[in-house]
Formats: sequence, structure tokens, C-alpha cells
Amino acid sequence: MIPPLHWNDEAFRVDLLDQTRLPVEEHWLEIETPEAMAEAIRMLRVRGAPAIGIAAAYGVVLALRGEDAASPQQTALETIEMLAQTRPTAVNLFWALNRMREAVAAHPEVSRGALRNRLLEEARAIEAEDREAGRRLGAHGLTLFEDGMTVLTHCHAGGVATSGFGTALAPLLLAGDRGVRLRAYVDETRPLLQGSRITAWELGRAGVPATLITDSMAGHVMQQGRVDAVIVGADRIAANGDTANKIGTYTLAVLAHAHSLPFYVSAPVSTIDFDTPDGAAIVIEERASREVTHGFGRQTAPDGVAVYNPAFDVTPARLITAIITEHGVVRPPFEATLRVLRDERVAAAQ
Ligand code: MRU
Repeated sequence: MIPPLHWNDEAFRVDLLDQTRLPVEEHWLEIETPEAMAEAIRMLRVRGAPAIGIAAAYGVVLALRGEDAASPQQTALETIEMLAQTRPTAVNLFWALNRMREAVAAHPEVSRGALRNRLLEEARAIEAEDREAGRRLGAHGLTLFEDGMTVLTHCHAGGVATSGFGTALAPLLLAGDRGVRLRAYVDETRPLLQGSRITAWELGRAGVPATLITDSMAGHVMQQGRVDAVIVGADRIAANGDTANKIGTYTLAVLAHAHSLPFYVSAPVSTIDFDTPDGAAIVIEERASREVTHGFGRQTAPDGVAVYNPAFDVTPARLITAIITEHGVVRPPFEATLRVLRDERVAAAQ
């Protein structure tokens, strides 16, 4: 288990693994203010949908770190608005901030110290629930794979993208303990190389045999019969099952379809956005052109070239074989099955 951050109670701060330095350096940042947390999210020092949500929740707590004459409720709400501006696509960010907003609303009169404790409790609950979700996702995901299979994955959806267990990587990380041997092909994931820099690093640490390929090799690898399935995480799943994930995911889904391979999405229920009807309504983050033209400090494109750099794409539900959640494996038609999943959870909570 590799968590992306630790709440440091003594110092009242977040110790956060700077993911931009992986895999060469495991450097931990000391995050003491919501502004520093916002910078860390924006600059991808913490990344991956569930991890962003958890980090933002702790960021709200940090707003109440010192003493201040301002109303603590007002301070917390303003911080929530500020953190909501950091990245647009991963819905876990807004889901976690919403929980923090509800926690503030439930305590309109309490003192700064009391609100601080309540918000810390909520952030810890969000993190703990995600950890439990990861454990369950892994177990449900494993039911789809047999001993000896090889899966292809894209971007990063392991421990540091979540609270420690991962989403798409959860079955792979759990497999060894259950006596199931799985292997992985890992897409490098242009332009920021989350696959080679984070996924390959995490699988290596966990002892899961992994082979790195560049994104453009995926079709060839499938054609050669080297993979049995594709599994990816998600940044936002719309109510009809359309799924936003790292740019290049849609291409993989089309390729998987062309080669009759199952295409699985693995994500906690906090990634399903029932307020977004379909993929067309998902805001896709566009990032700086330098990520493409100056990969890791070296210029690799002519000066002034036009660049389009969307960070995510949307895979239509029709290309998804199943969505693995902590409550089980959901199959098409997702418009209906995701709703049943939600209604069952609501009923169970009552
Ligand atoms: O831009 P990033 O690195 O935050 O994008 C991450 C992804 O797209 C992941 O695949 C997704 O968040 C799944 S996280 C378990």
C-alpha cells in the first residue's frame, strides 16, 4: 500500500509525496496552507481522482490552522471555493469538497476549534472510506481475471492515485496475496508519463511483473495476442457510463473492441457523477502546451507550433465491458445498472 499523503497531527499539516519527482526521488512536501495544497493539486504533485479529493479535503482543514478573527465557517467555505478551481475533470475533487461543505453547514455556530476537529474527522473519513473501497475494488476486480492473465493499463491508478490501494491496479496488487499470477503491460502515457513514472514504479515495488510500452504500441501488442484485457481507472463516470480518464484511454477502448478484448473501468462510487448525464457534459481539462513541446525540460517541437493538449478523453459506455466498483461489478446497460447500484446504497444507508 502506497498512500500519497499523511495527515501529520503533531505539526497540523499534510505530508505529501511529490509525484512529479517519481520515480527517481521519493520527496515529501510539508503542506501547511490551503494555497500550498491548491498549488500541489494544480501542478500534479498530487494526482489521480480519489487522491485529489482526499488532498482537497485536508486542504480545507488547513484553512483553520491558526487563529483568525474571521468566521471559521466563512473561511472554510471560501477555501472550498478556492480548491474547487484547481482542476475541472476529476469529480472526486467536487465530491469531497461537497462533503466538507455539508460538514460546515451542519455546524453553523461552533467555535473555530470545534469546526476544525469536525472537518478533520470528515477528511479522515473520506480517506478511510476510499481505502476500504480500494480493498473491495481489488477483490471484485479479481473475479474477472484468471491465473496467468496479462492486462494492459494506462496512466496511473494505483496507491498514490488514491488512498493507498488503487483502483485499476487494485486487483493486480491484491493478486499475489490470493495466489493469482497476473502480469501487466503499462502504457507510458504521453505527455506526462504517469504510466512509466508511477504505474511501472508501483507495480515494480509490489513485485507484479510489468512491461512498459509507449502508447502507440498498444494496438500492436493486442494484435500479437499479448494481452487478455484492458483495465483503467476513471476521473468521472457519467450517469450513462461514459467515462472520462487520462487522454489515450478512448483509443485503447477502440483498440480493445477491435481485438474483442474486454475493457474494464475500475473506480469507487465517488467517481460516478449522476448529475452529469453523459460524456458530452464532462469538462475536459486542457493543459499547457509546454507539456507537449518541452517534455521534461527538453524542447522536442519547433518554436511556435500550435498544440492541443487535452488531459483527458471520454470513452463511450458502449465500449466498456464492465465497471468495477467497491459494491460489485456493474455491466451494461449502465444507465440502468449504475442507478440500481446507487438506489441500493441509499436504501442500505437508511
Ligand atoms: O492528470 P492525472 O495524473 O491526475 O490523471 C490521472 C488519471 O487519469 C487516472 O487514470 C485516474 O484519475 C484514475 S485514478 C485512480
